[in-house]
Amino acid sequence: MPGSDRKTAPVAALDIGDQPFVQVEKVSKKFGSLMAVSGVSFGVHEGKICGLVGSDGAGKTTLLRMIATMIRPTAGNIFVGGLNVITQKAKVKEVIGYMPQRFGLYQDLTVAENLDFFMDIYGLSGAERTRRRDYYLGFSNLLPFLNRKAGDLSGGMKQKLGLACVLVHQPNLLILDEPTNGVDPVSRQEFWDILAEMKQKGMTILVSTAYLDEGEKCDQLILMHNAQLLTIATPHEIQANLPDLEEAMIRRIQAVDNALAEDNFGS
Ligand SMILES: Nc1ncnc2c1ncn2[C@@H]1O[C@H](COP(=O)(O)OP(=O)(O)O)[C@@H](O)[C@H]1O
Ligand SMILES: [Mg+2]
Repeated sequence: MPGSDRKTAPVAALDIGDQPFVQVEKVSKKFGSLMAVSGVSFGVHEGKICGLVGSDGAGKTTLLRMIATMIRPTAGNIFVGGLNVITQKAKVKEVIGYMPQRFGLYQDLTVAENLDFFMDIYGLSGAERTRRRDYYLGFSNLLPFLNRKAGDLSGGMKQKLGLACVLVHQPNLLILDEPTNGVDPVSRQEFWDILAEMKQKGMTILVSTAYLDEGEKCDQLILMHNAQLLTIATPHEIQANLPDLEEAMIRRIQAVDNALAEDNFGS
């Protein structure tokens, strides 16, 4: 079968030359009169991890949901692997794995049953189904817990199961919204080890996080504030000569807020 090789390849290649794999062009999203995302543009190249950081309400989730085809931008364009997320939504869904902020595992189903549910959706069967189950549950250290109900897993294990569920169809782009929120440090490390392994396979990863130590593991960081993109740079560039990334982020956000306050005062 001609398609079978592509199916078993870790990540199927899409020919987009040296274009960024994710391209966000002047994207805005309004909810009524509220501007949740305003004129945001950036690109993420294939095989890179791009971190999205910023204050609460900055627009991170809204931006990720637009890239994941869940909501439409009010203005602007988004391309994933050269595909337009609005006009080619179905095709885009095939190449992405999206784990929302509150990922819906079936709490009353076991680990194995939750994964089965997703493998059914993607029509996986036979030896390939078994291979992927063993692989994705194996590196999540979930194989000993196949018969445990998802509702009885620890926070970190739940998130790893969620990740396994969005990985079984082997997406080119992984979109994760604060996947390690509230997870203990050891499980967070394990979660990031899995992301590093996926990156090795050529997967592109877009991940929002409130933990700045995770920001350091990204190839590029986007700092959002008040619906806008403040900075896009490597963690090293953003930290510059400050003691840590957290301090650097806070200073940038405060500088913008202070400038805004002076503007308002002056007028
Ligand atoms: N469906 C929605 N309807 C109305 N307002 C929304 C909706 N989703 C998000 N918002 C608002 O948009 C802004 C950005 O929210 P969000 O994208 O969730 O930010 P973040 O993920 O950075 O915390 C917030 O002011 C939020 O209240
Ligand atoms: Mg959010």
